[in-house]
Amino acid sequence: MFSPFLKPCPCILLFLLFTLFYTSTEAYDPLDPNGNITIKWDIISWTQDGYVAVVTLNNYQQYRHISPPGWSLGWTWAKKEVIWNIVGGQTTEQGDCSRFKSSPPPHCCKKDPTVVDLLPGTPYNQQIANCCRGGVLSSLAQDPTNAVSAFQVSVGSSGTTNKTVKLPQNFTLKAPGPGYTCGPAKIVKPTKFRTPDKRRVTQAHMTWNVTCTYSQFLAQKTPTCCVSLSAFYNETVVPCPTCSCGCQGNSPQSGSCVDPSAPHLASVVSSLGKNGITPLVRCTSHMCPIRVHWHVKLNYKEYWRVKVTVTNFNYRMNYSDWNLVIQHPNFDNLTQLFSFNYDSISPYGTINDTAMLWGVKFYNDFLMQAGPLGNAQSELLFRKDKSTFTFDKGWAFPRKVYFNGDNCVMPPPDAYPWSPNSAAKQQVSFLALTIAFSVAFVLHAYA
Ligand SMILES: *[C@@H]1O[C@H](CO)[C@@H](O)[C@H](O)[C@H]1NC(C)=O
Ligand SMILES: *[C@@H]1O[C@H](CO)[C@@H](O)[C@H](O)[C@H]1NC(C)=O
Ligand SMILES: *[C@@H]1O[C@H](CO)[C@@H](O)[C@H](O)[C@H]1NC(C)=O
Ligand SMILES: *[C@@H]1O[C@H](CO)[C@@H](O)[C@H](O)[C@H]1NC(C)=O
Ligand SMILES: *[C@@H]1O[C@H](CO)[C@@H](O)[C@H](O)[C@H]1NC(C)=O
Ligand SMILES: *[C@@H]1O[C@H](CO)[C@@H](O)[C@H](O)[C@H]1NC(C)=O
Ligand SMILES: *[C@@H]1O[C@H](CO)[C@@H](O)[C@H](O)[C@H]1NC(C)=O
Ligand SMILES: *[C@@H]1O[C@H](CO)[C@@H](O)[C@H](O)[C@H]1NC(C)=O
Repeated sequence: MFSPFLKPCPCILLFLLFTLFYTSTEAYDPLDPNGNITIKWDIISWTQDGYVAVVTLNNYQQYRHISPPGWSLGWTWAKKEVIWNIVGGQTTEQGDCSRFKSSPPPHCCKKDPTVVDLLPGTPYNQQIANCCRGGVLSSLAQDPTNAVSAFQVSVGSSGTTNKTVKLPQNFTLKAPGPGYTCGPAKIVKPTKFRTPDKRRVTQAHMTWNVTCTYSQFLAQKTPTCCVSLSAFYNETVVPCPTCSCGCQGNSPQSGSCVDPSAPHLASVVSSLGKNGITPLVRCTSHMCPIRVHWHVKLNYKEYWRVKVTVTNFNYRMNYSDWNLVIQHPNFDNLTQLFSFNYDSISPYGTINDTAMLWGVKFYNDFLMQAGPLGNAQSELLFRKDKSTFTFDKGWAFPRKVYFNGDNCVMPPPDAYPWSPNSAAKQQVSFLALTIAFSVAFVLHAYA
């Protein structure tokens, strides 16, 4: 079953890693406390047996987006509703519509329909505003105009007044895997729409909202990203921790990787399929699809310079619109940044040590699948704050790194590259410790 280029992976270790890294079940994200995806239903007209509603998905998350193959939205009807028609979207299954004699038949008769977006290039007469992007939702910080998605649904066999309509229940949002939890639908103030010429305001007949929040724990993913470190003052490169995202091993369980030196690499990769959601990674000691490298490059009198490199080890994924969130105390004085976009994330307005970085459109916003083109890099220039700046104790390295909103595994702090100074101090303190021990031993021996 396994080709010689695949190496399976021990799952118990993976499980241990999970429990180590994801002990919190909370959906709450301290860097983005108000992050959620809100789904809004606006009934824009009543029909003979139901209503027409515009359903809008708004991504209010600063740095988490939905990438291809996009979102899918499910719910359960409260009564025996049917979907006569959808514009700008479609259900994945029609279900049993045999009780309807009409022609054409309803679009979907399932009790629990699932709707997906249409693809770009859909004919104009099947589109509405903000539809047809293949279910891709940008993050709010990166591209607010594409952080919204919509479709229009004509519902029958439902109520035809705001007293008789029953709200759909049990909303599910897949992106495309698990991770989101949706609350119940709540009736809210009817949305007001402004006409394009801004001279008239219309209003929905009835509106309800559903809020969905993300939890990395629910997504049950292994870590997807790790961090390696280096500095000009020490030739040691501190690699990603071994088994950050999985291990190479011999157990017959799932998890596999591709050896880049294998002959016929392209055909091995394509025979393993391109469409899976699970990554197909290059064999490394960390087995992560993404590595972020932070190199402390130069030290000037007033400034210091860092080079950040993001590398894709996943043969199954081109990361479009990728982003990084990095926490470092010197981000309050970032002076210059090359070839990435930047936004400061200050969830509480006071702390200003977290930055969001992402690729420049049409230049490096597309992180190509594993291979020679699968990386993007940038240099950051920080102004030193004399009272806090130091190369000691790993201060120059990031505290936390996220790729596309997922926490990256950091090397342990005691493995960080030492500066010659701190190495000297370390030796001194070791000497001190030795003396202290000897003294204690001597005292003890003579007591
Ligand atoms: C969802 O996000 C919006 C925008 O940040 C915020 O106003 C709203 O309170 C959030 N809703 C919940 C339930 O967190
Ligand atoms: C239903 O419509 C009536 C009349 O238009 C309005 O007074 C009432 O507030 C609406 N109720 C809801 C739940 O929207
Ligand atoms: C919605 O989910 C809850 C809990 O899982 C379940 O008890 C309820 O029956 C579901 N409702 C419908 C209409 O499926
Ligand atoms: C409902 O959702 C819309 C659009 O996301 C938002 O503007 C509005 O504030 C929400 N209403 C409530 C009460 O959450
Ligand atoms: C990534 O993009 C390149 C160039 O557009 C394409 O040839 C390749 O098939 C894509 N890979 C995947 C896994 O989608
Ligand atoms: C945070 O720092 C950035 C870069 O120096 C600056 O542009 C931004 O205004 C600061 N924000 C706050 C809330 O201090
Ligand atoms: C940035 O650096 C200057 C000069 O060292 C310092 O005065 C200031 O407090 C630092 N922080 C901010 C947020 O500007
Ligand atoms: C470089 O850092 C490593 C720790 O990662 C340390 O063991 C080594 O002694 C350092 N080398 C020098 C020359 O300071």
